[in-house]
Order: sequence, then structure tokens, then C-alpha cells
Amino acid sequence: MESVYEKLQRCERSLRQKTDFVPQAALVLGSGLGDYGERIRVVDTVDYHEIDGFPVSTVPGHAGRFLFGYVGGLPVVCMQGRVHYYEGYDMPDVVLPIRLMRLLGAEDLFLTNAAGGIRQGMPAGSLMLLTGQIASLVPSPLRGPNIDELGTRFPDMSRIYDTDLQRIARKAAVSLGIDLWEGTYLQLSGPQYETPQEVAMCRLLGADAVGMSTACEAVAARHMGMRVLGISCITNLASGISPVPLSHAEVQETADRVSAQFAALVTEILTQLGRQE
Ligand code: HPA
Repeated sequence: MESVYEKLQRCERSLRQKTDFVPQAALVLGSGLGDYGERIRVVDTVDYHEIDGFPVSTVPGHAGRFLFGYVGGLPVVCMQGRVHYYEGYDMPDVVLPIRLMRLLGAEDLFLTNAAGGIRQGMPAGSLMLLTGQIASLVPSPLRGPNIDELGTRFPDMSRIYDTDLQRIARKAAVSLGIDLWEGTYLQLSGPQYETPQEVAMCRLLGADAVGMSTACEAVAARHMGMRVLGISCITNLASGISPVPLSHAEVQETADRVSAQFAALVTEILTQLGRQE
């Protein structure tokens, strides 16, 4: 049977037949940044379908493709659509795209997502810089034989979100006049939204926001030594905090409302990053 690493190499070979672009940073677009591709000076596009072995998302509205191009002077690869654990993929498939972008050359990973807000006083529509995370409630993407070519068996996770990148993000937010919240993100498997009791548990564990992605991707990225930055769009107050039942429509509506501000922040961060290279 093909190993996780062999499959990753198959994807790399297939993708390399379509582009020779070498990105410095990788960007994963969550809900609310679906249109962000318009802000990238795109030089190459590759549909996930075109990549031999690549896991393709089943969620409607999660168009799946890589965009290759520039934000400011920074060469980036951007994932328009990610795959989620709740779709039925095993964790190695969920993080395969992250590993693939590292193999293409990306050293920094910028993760974005939509999340439910738990932190007291943080309203829906806020942007939250991830300063920490709890991934232990979903399986580790590193489970199974270690892929020595990517990283060590027992990688350190004590500074999972890079402090230099966080500093850049804070500065970018100040320069744009954006209130950037900060906190710990907790990943659950989904796809159901949480019960109020589960949200109470998340709060007890120290979470400020809850979602269904990102933490596993950050773990895989740190395993490979990438610098990781994460920002959540708080699309709704989490279950039990919100006075109304949760719906995907509400999540999408808030994500759309905040998208221009979110996009401006992402661009400013990437532009600053490009100046440092
Ligand atoms: N919970 C989990 N995932 C989410 C939420 C939520 O409340 N909002 C957006 N993604």
C-alpha cells in the first residue's frame, strides 16, 4: 500500500508538472476570504482535481484550487478551499495540502478560518489572532510512522504560533485601525455545531474560540518547522452564548460582512512579511 509520504510525493510530482512557482508563504483561505484571490497577482492556478492523489473537498461552496502569485512582493501559494476532517478524510489527507505547500518551498503558513466566539465580550464580526491552540480533541495528523523526511517523531509545540509573525499581525492591525482580538483556538471534529454544554467545556479548557479546522494543520506545519500564523473570523457567538440557534447562513453572512476588513489585514500582513524577506 502507498505510504502517506509516497502519496505526498505523487501529489508533488503531479503539481510540479503544472507549475514551477516557488512560494515563500502559504495561505489557507477560510470562510470570509473566499474572494481573496482577487487581491493576489495570480500567475498560475491549479485545480485540486488536476493533482493526482489530492483530497478534494465535498462541501458546497468550498471551491478547490491553488493560486500561485504575489501579494506585494511576496510569492505566495494560496488554498482556495480546504478539506475538513468532518468530510470523512483521515488526518493525513486533511494535512496533505499543508505538507505539499511546504515541499513546494513555503516556509511560512498563514491559516484563516471561521470560528464561534467563546471569549467574554468578543462580539461576532471580530477578528482573533491565534496565540495558542487545543488540538487534543481531534486525532493527531502525526499519528502513524513518523515521516523523517518532514520532521522529528516528537516535535515541540510550545510556540505553535510564531511570535515574530504575531508581532507583524498586531502592527498591521494597528496601522489599519482594526481591533485584533487574541486567544486560544480549539478544534472539534464537527460537522455539527456544539451543544451549550460542549461550549462550556471548551471555555473550561481555556478556549476563546471553537472551530472545525486549523489546529491539525498548524501541528503538521510545525512538525515541518514552518512558522505559523493564524487568524479567526468570529462569525457567531458559540452555542449557548448566542441567543439564537446557530446556522451556516449566519456564519456565512458575518464572514461576508467582515471580508473586506479581513482581506485588508491579510494583505497588510503579507506585504509586511514580503518587506522582511
Ligand atoms: N462552532 C464551530 N465551528 C464554527 C463555528 C462554531 O460556532 N462558527 C464557525 N465555525
